[in-house]
Amino acid sequence: MADGLTVAVTGPTGDLGIAIVSALERSRSVKLIRGMARRPFDPAERGWRKTEYRQGDVTDAASVRDLVAGADVVVHLAFAILTASDATRELNVAGSRLVFEEAAIAGAERICYASSVAAYGFHHDNPDWLKEDVPARGSPEHPYSQQKAEVEGFLADTVRRHPRTVAYVFRPCIVAGPEARTMVEEIPYYRVEEAMPAPVARLVRAFPVLKPVIPDPGTSFQLVHEDDVARAFLAGVRGVGEPGPYNLAGDGVLTIEDVATALGWYSVPVPRPIVEATAEVVTRLPVVPDSVAWIHSVRKPVLMRTDRARRLLRWRPEHTSKATLQAMVAAHRAEVAAR
Ligand SMILES: NC(=O)c1ccc[n+]([C@@H]2O[C@H](COP(=O)([O-])OP(=O)(O)OC[C@H]3O[C@@H](n4cnc5c(N)ncnc54)[C@H](OP(=O)(O)O)[C@@H]3O)[C@@H](O)[C@H]2O)c1
Repeated sequence: MADGLTVAVTGPTGDLGIAIVSALERSRSVKLIRGMARRPFDPAERGWRKTEYRQGDVTDAASVRDLVAGADVVVHLAFAILTASDATRELNVAGSRLVFEEAAIAGAERICYASSVAAYGFHHDNPDWLKEDVPARGSPEHPYSQQKAEVEGFLADTVRRHPRTVAYVFRPCIVAGPEARTMVEEIPYYRVEEAMPAPVARLVRAFPVLKPVIPDPGTSFQLVHEDDVARAFLAGVRGVGEPGPYNLAGDGVLTIEDVATALGWYSVPVPRPIVEATAEVVTRLPVVPDSVAWIHSVRKPVLMRTDRARRLLRWRPEHTSKATLQAMVAAHRAEVAAR
């Protein structure tokens, strides 16, 4: 096992970045972490001691070259998720290509890339439980899924052309936890509640009859805890097992009803034909908000087996999907109470 690794990280300030860099900070195998994103950020505020941070954009060749110079491992996280569209191809596709190419040219031993369960696509002919041997085809009507699949394709091509560099490709399901709260924050009601004047929000919370109702299409999904994802990345950074694709998910499956119950909200079932019809209409509309394309993700459950990560990385998720949901909700509640 290599010691004293220098690790370059794109997107260290995001939901996954915070958890992954925190895990790298704790690892004795890692000597130096170099992070880059666009916002101003001070690693010392997180108590990080091995991390140097610089502002930069993954679409800028000079910034990327500077970031990966001398790195043993490059962790690539920077990506637009909910806003993925043709407009994000520059960041998601061109930016990723640049990071991989520059990492390989600079002689990095490993690239650890955060792909996604979405790379498989939401296809009705996919098996109910996805293993890594199912092709990552993406779904053309879902730009995030399509871009994740495309990026995986040229990462494979990059390491074929640069045999000194290998790639660990992680495909997490929805990541959640005390830091990773995008999932709950993107539920439309949350946004509404956030915008309410405090006395009104308190009133709504006090009367059960006013509690929010969220639609439940009945699709099962998995959650994975941010710290479990971070431990898988750490294994990849250290070169445990072998390179290749790895599904990451917590044990157990959930539905929106579970999310509503955990939040103390209500859910109403949405009949499947309505979900299908809405998705069909959305596909045909010329102009819809980018995030509306996510309707396609509830048409077909995408559930993953994680045997490969368990066998080769010796990875065991410490948190079930349900425990992960509870951890995220507890952190959300604590923040709302503090406001
Ligand atoms: N969260 C999930 O549930 C989930 C699930 C599966 C896979 N993933 C994948 O995991 C990765 C990280 O996700 P996340 O949830 O941590 O995303 P996030 O919270 O949105 O964070 C994205 C990070 O990328 C940075 N970034 C964005 N545009 C950039 C640019 N042009 N140049 C440099 N940095 C840029 C952001 O910082 P600035 O905005 O300051 O630049 C931030 O640090 C993504 O590839 C995502 O597809 C996430």
